[in-house]
Order: sequence, then structure tokens, then C-alpha cells
Amino acid sequence: MKLLSANSNRSLSQNIGTYLDMPLTKARVQRFADNEIFVTIDENVRGEDVFVIQSTSFPANDNLMELLICIDALTRASAKRITAVIPYFGYARQDRKVGGRTPISAKLVANLITRAGAHRVLTMDLHAGQIQGFFDIPTDNLVAIPFMARDIKDQYSNAAEIMIVSPDVGGVVRARALADRLGGDLAIVDKRRPRAGESEVMNIIGEVEGRDCILFDDIVDSGGTLVNAAKALVEQGAKSVSAYISHGVLSGEALNRVDKSVLKELVITDSIEVPEVIRNHPKIRIVGVAPLIGEAIRRIANEESVSKLFD
Ligand code: R5P
Repeated sequence: MKLLSANSNRSLSQNIGTYLDMPLTKARVQRFADNEIFVTIDENVRGEDVFVIQSTSFPANDNLMELLICIDALTRASAKRITAVIPYFGYARQDRKVGGRTPISAKLVANLITRAGAHRVLTMDLHAGQIQGFFDIPTDNLVAIPFMARDIKDQYSNAAEIMIVSPDVGGVVRARALADRLGGDLAIVDKRRPRAGESEVMNIIGEVEGRDCILFDDIVDSGGTLVNAAKALVEQGAKSVSAYISHGVLSGEALNRVDKSVLKELVITDSIEVPEVIRNHPKIRIVGVAPLIGEAIRRIANEESVSKLFD
């Protein structure tokens, strides 16, 4: 098998290589003067089982295109099987028509990846599990919950007394799974989106007074959902509020919002490349997912069970 990394998250690719004790395949993902992408694979991959690692995070379109061109290069170089390893799958929030004459971009992206020549997809904490069905090729959707739960147990002596909070109704299943794993309770924030990119808390369902609360979500993007939910929880008497979120998109003013918020700590994974400013942020901590993704790759290559990793 071979590991190939495009440019979006090289540190994670290196860490996956370290976990698997194998070097990354020699390749160059470069730009022409006009910014078109050009890929050269500098090693023979004929007949190989190749895993291409690329998160389709910001800049999503460039990173997606890099992934597609890498898959095309591998197809034309006669790789036997190509797995697109997409730790953060961008465009996932466009998973249904939100109104008349709107796209389902997550399905379009799934079509593009398949048509480019991928035989399998390995991703993590998809915004909506049903996106797996947008692919007509095997798609493994890893979950960071076991990792997060382990971290919470290490950090909190009273893990079973923590109130896990879903910041919106759409995240209840995910938050319930974490609460069950910890043996804790679940509360739900009733969130409204008056406009795209803005969020407003309407109600909190559950008794949070005097409780240590952990908000659990898949994505922190503008930070609005998170910061508003944390504020509402404190106003309802929560003792402390922290957050565990799989994908730290953190765009625009997000860092400032987190800075000024009532949040005690924000824990994210490195599914998206973590710049220094985030790595050194006093309120943010990173949980590395290279062992999770590396182990899934090892299992796929050896035709072993991947669902074992959900235990
Ligand atoms: C929405 O359903 C997602 O699970 C996140 O809650 C949302 O994407 C976070 O976005 P933002 O940080 O911009 O409020």
C-alpha cells in the first residue's frame, strides 16, 4: 500500500505516516503561474493500494480540485485501488435542497470524487451520516466520539456528572452517543438560523443549573452557534461550559469570538490543518486523529473490520 498526501493537511498526513511507520509517496502537487494545479507522482504506483489524504477545507475549491487531480494521476498511473481519505469533507452542509432552485452540493462533490476514479472513501464525522449514501462506492465514516470520550475522562474527574449539550436539534444523535458513552445527561439547545451564517438561541431543553456542560458538535465555523449556546447555558446557571468539536473550520472572526466568550476550553481535532495562531490559542486544545485514521487505513488495506474502531 502507499500513502499520498496533497497539500491541505500535510502535518496530519505525516502523522498518519508515522503511525503506520511508512513514508509518504514522493509526489509534487504544484501550481502553474495561472494557479492551475499540476500533480506528478515520483514513484511507481502500478498495482498499488493507494490512500490519498486530503481534507477539502478552506480553500475548499482548490483543495477539492487537488484531490480530484491526484486521483486522476493515480488512475492513469494504474494504481489498483484508490481510497480518498478526507478527514474533513467540505460542502457537507449542503446535503439537501434548502429551498427552490438550490443545489445539493454534497452530492455533486460525491459524484466528482467517484467519477475522478476513487474506489473507496474514508472520512470522519460527516455533517450528516446519510452523505455516505451519496457515494456508490464503499464509504467509511469514522467517528471521533471514542477519542473525545477518552479525553473527557482524562480531563474531568466527574465525567459521569457532566451535562453533554447538543448546540442544535440536528446534533442530538451525535451528542446522545457521547452522553451514553460517558454515562452522563443530555441537554439540547433550540437554535434558529435567521440567516445563513447567523444563529440565535431560542430555548434550552434540560436542567443545566449548577452543571459542568460540554457542548458537542461536528463543526465550528463562524463560532456563532458555539458562543451563543455557551452564553445561553451560563445565563441558565451552568457552572462551566467547554466544547468538543470534531472539525475546527474557525473562519472569519471565529477566534475572536471564542476569545471573548464564556467558554472555558474548546477542544478540536486536527482534521483540518491547525495554524500556529490556533495551536497557541490559550483556550483551544487539539486532539490528534492520526492514530484513528491511520488505524482505519491499516484495517482497510488488510481487509479487517473498520467498525471495530467505533467501540
Ligand atoms: C450545523 O448544523 C453544524 O453542526 C454546526 O453547528 C455549524 O456548522 C456551526 O457553524 P457556525 O460556527 O458558523 O455557527
